[in-house]
Amino acid sequence: MSAPIIVALEARATEWEIAPEKGVEGWGYNGQIPGPTIKARVGDTLVIRLKNSLPEPTTIHWHGLRIQSDMDGTDSVQRAVAPGETYEYRFELPDAGTFWYHSHMNETEQMERGLYGAMVVRGSDDPVVDDDRVLVLDDLMLDGDGQIAAFGGLLQRHNGRIGNTRLVNGCVEPELLMSAGHVERWRVVNAASARYVRLSVGGKPFRLLATDGGFLDTPVTMNELLLVPGERADILVGPFAEGETFSVDSISTPRNPERFASVRVGRSAQSSARIPARLNAIESLVHGNAQANRTVHFQSKLTVRRGIDWLVNDEMHHHAPPVTLGELQVWDIVNETRIDHPFHLHGFFFQVIEVAGVAPPFRAWRDTVNVQASQTVRIAWMPDDRPGEWMYHCHILEHHAAGMMAHFQVLRAGEHERVMDNPHHAAHR
Ligand code: C2O
Ligand code: CU
Repeated sequence: MSAPIIVALEARATEWEIAPEKGVEGWGYNGQIPGPTIKARVGDTLVIRLKNSLPEPTTIHWHGLRIQSDMDGTDSVQRAVAPGETYEYRFELPDAGTFWYHSHMNETEQMERGLYGAMVVRGSDDPVVDDDRVLVLDDLMLDGDGQIAAFGGLLQRHNGRIGNTRLVNGCVEPELLMSAGHVERWRVVNAASARYVRLSVGGKPFRLLATDGGFLDTPVTMNELLLVPGERADILVGPFAEGETFSVDSISTPRNPERFASVRVGRSAQSSARIPARLNAIESLVHGNAQANRTVHFQSKLTVRRGIDWLVNDEMHHHAPPVTLGELQVWDIVNETRIDHPFHLHGFFFQVIEVAGVAPPFRAWRDTVNVQASQTVRIAWMPDDRPGEWMYHCHILEHHAAGMMAHFQVLRAGEHERVMDNPHHAAHR
């Protein structure tokens, strides 16, 4: 066994240079936004020492990592790390892929201010590429003084906080340089609070290699890809010709592309990329006609005091029944509202079985999936031997905060549900 990898992360106020001479008062890890990219290999043990130098409590959630419940970084499984305190996370990395970490307290503010970072876990048979980049997409809502705008308001509670300034790796619309002839792997993370990104790489075809939970069976060629908040995609881009320039956009509104970055293709260089035709062998969790054994209703309710509440099964911050480990879960996520929501399950990967009754075109492991307005998405997942407190929620941070989430426990057979003594949860009952 190799020695653990020790990472020190200090959460603190940071002068965030989003463009030359454009400083924003942010909150970052180790003075960086995004925080340092944590790089490791499958099977490595990570020890992360979080020091909280913020003026308020925080925690870190390891989004997409299939680790033990007590390391999940939510206020259901740990005490908040108070200002001045340190806290140690320790876990082994079970899967190769692209993950990310972010604050899981007062997220609408802490994540907007910059408390997020990427994590790259390499496997033993990763394809060989000419370059491997991480692109963390985000957006900021800046006010007239170029600072992060005041938080809150009914519009944000309804739509989420959609910013007016788009960022890649913390910078406004950077230029990426590529060599002609090269094939690169881009690990794209949508870290925005609420913005849906329909990714386009200059309108050119690219190949989807991996979703949240690792490789597809085989690369899938596409021209655009929806990436909702919380979601990741690893794509293969190139080869391009010398002198080409194009932009990396979100084309959610095709007439009005939103630029995230631009690409300039320089001199040509020898490529040593080798992409196997077969990347993975994903076994379907469901055979034949599976019936759902749980229904998750995403709902909204108008209220006089707060304008709108976001609910799961008629409750804000829903307390959902436990699941038993080893028992296949087939869930219908029913969106009863008039807007889309990105569903995120902590700690486990799922497969999408059906979207509005239709099987998806390819198998994939995910931890986040879009559920369109008035639509139902059926997912399947297997609770493996990691009992404890878990949760799922909408990854539009303002919706999560306004109630669109649920706590549940994974139990061993014969074990009884523990009483929830989570103060956050109790406060909403
Ligand atoms: Cu990125 Cu509770 O999630
Ligand atoms: Cu939502």
